Amino acid sequence: MIKLAPSVLAADFTCLGEEIKKVYENGAEYLHLDVMDGMFVPNISLGPGMIASMRKVCDIVFDVHLMIQDPIRYIDDFAKAGADIITFHYEACDNHKEVIDKIHSYGIRAGMSVKPYTDANLMVPFLPDLELALVMTVQPGFGGQKFMYEAMPNLEKLNAAIKELGKDIDLEVDGGINLQNACVVKERGANVLVAGSAVFGADDVAGTVREFLK
Ligand code: DX5
Ligand code: ZN
Repeated sequence: MIKLAPSVLAADFTCLGEEIKKVYENGAEYLHLDVMDGMFVPNISLGPGMIASMRKVCDIVFDVHLMIQDPIRYIDDFAKAGADIITFHYEACDNHKEVIDKIHSYGIRAGMSVKPYTDANLMVPFLPDLELALVMTVQPGFGGQKFMYEAMPNLEKLNAAIKELGKDIDLEVDGGINLQNACVVKERGANVLVAGSAVFGADDVAGTVREFLK
């Protein structure tokens, strides 16, 4: 079963509540929330305050993607803001197990992500402790970029490792995903598709969500 995680980054911030409802009511299971710190990535996006106010809109699963350096500093804040899943970057710290344990201490699912040119094998030893593995299919930092086929070996490696482990772990892809290339990642085992501009930039947002889930 494929899950869709529309990325709020591409939504209309002047009517965020309506945007969230639209994707939720049409079958999106996750809402992808991109947190950027201007350090790990060159852009700054949203913080825990905004996430806490979005939490009031509906019960969609909050899939928080932390693109921040030394993520342990902010786990408390995003847990309290209402995250259901917190994903951090392999490249952003060296205390991976500590970060995972801290996320789990809140009863929240833990995810780890790799950039397109980071070898996903580095993430494999952590899979037994994770509920989600995220393969970036663009360089993190901005929405609306072109999908990178170079990231497909990472997806293939993680898909094989998860199968071998026999654990129910979400395999998520993020960046440049649209209705045309969705099959490329689905056939390599991805079960959670993040899509920002392809969903919120579409003329028919509701129809696009339904199309992704067909
Ligand atoms: C990029 C973010 C993505 C982004 C996806 O750093 O992690 O989640 O919002 O947007 P699209 O689907 O437009 O590439
Ligand atoms: Zn993201």
